[in-house]
Amino acid sequence: MAETFEPTSIIVTGGCGFIGSNFVRWVVENHPGVRVTVLDKLTYAGNPENIAGLPEDRVRLVVGDICDEALLEGLVPGHDAVVHFAAESHNDNSIADPEPFVRTNVVGTYRLLEACRAHDVRYHHVSTDEVYGDLALDDPARFTEETPYRPSSPYSSTKASSDMLVRAWHRTYGVRATISNCSNNYGPYQHVEKFIPRQITNILCGIRPKLYGDGKNVRDWIHTEDHSSAVWAILTRGRVGETYLIGADGERDNITVLRDVLRAMGRPEDDFDWVRDRPGHDRRYAIDPTKLRTELGWEPRHTDFESGLMATIEWYREHEAWWRPAKEATEARYAAQGQ
Ligand code: NAD
Ligand code: TYD
Repeated sequence: MAETFEPTSIIVTGGCGFIGSNFVRWVVENHPGVRVTVLDKLTYAGNPENIAGLPEDRVRLVVGDICDEALLEGLVPGHDAVVHFAAESHNDNSIADPEPFVRTNVVGTYRLLEACRAHDVRYHHVSTDEVYGDLALDDPARFTEETPYRPSSPYSSTKASSDMLVRAWHRTYGVRATISNCSNNYGPYQHVEKFIPRQITNILCGIRPKLYGDGKNVRDWIHTEDHSSAVWAILTRGRVGETYLIGADGERDNITVLRDVLRAMGRPEDDFDWVRDRPGHDRRYAIDPTKLRTELGWEPRHTDFESGLMATIEWYREHEAWWRPAKEATEARYAAQGQ
């Protein structure tokens, strides 16, 4: 077991996005001695509302770009750690226009690593299981920390590139870095472009949900709060230089998830449209979280997917003012792609 690291002042990049904002709220609630500087560019996916109402003496928002070297030079010193969530995060967008993914995910990570190297600041890198490519539906295997990288999409290839930079900056320059690769998250504050919120808000708007391909693609769902507790465990108790996979044994195919949503919202199970498949669509992701569980003693709290999904549906019902402004443009973009 590594020595415990007790940060009191951290930078959270992408802290106005889905997972980053859930992490910020989780830290404020669970670790009263920690102050958080959120660094976020506020792209279409970032919303300051996501961290509204948190105590001002605990959370400060700096609006800026992780690619901005001068900004990082002024901001990073004086913090104990950088927890890096900021990214272009949506596969479908990366297929339509990969350029911002290369810039933010690769160049932005490079800039943060350089700033952490210059000022000897601890760095945690938030990544995805999609760097491992996909598994066949009938493959008994799950991803482990030893699985070779085999990314499929512009999104996952830029995340894989950023992971490689982190490994090299640790080995070559001694940057005190850890990496986590997590499976698909669900929960409050997720953008309406993503699968689960898209279908919930479609139903709330009277639009039929949209399912890609044959609906048999499998994702390994984890509640975003469990992702937060895992990142904190790795940041504070993980071994520097190591990678940890985060997952909660939540494999489900898309059609099952969609039928769960329809049932929970009182709609017939076949009340959806089949739409054009995503090019290069990964078949299945699955995480073996043994290392995280045995080495750091981490356990997920949300082990009942159906009740986590019900609570998420309730959240979208109650927060129409939050998601409504992004809905129309998102659906127009999908419609233009035949999806
Ligand atoms: P998101 O798209 O909801 O949020 C991304 C945030 O980053 C936004 O607030 C955006 O404004 C900010 N951002 C984008 N470019 C920036 C830049 N150049 N400078 C500063 N800020 C910038 O993403 P998310 O779903 O919350 O994902 C967060 C992280 O978790 C990403 O690194 C993603 O790869 C990883 N991840 C996501 C999932 C998932 O299921 N969503 C699963 C595993 C890992
Ligand atoms: P998504 O939320 O985009 O996450 P990821 O691509 O990172 O796994 O999609 C989750 C799954 O749902 C994926 O297999 C694609 C599928 N999907 C649909 O079937 N319909 C949709 O409208 C969307 C957005 C995704």
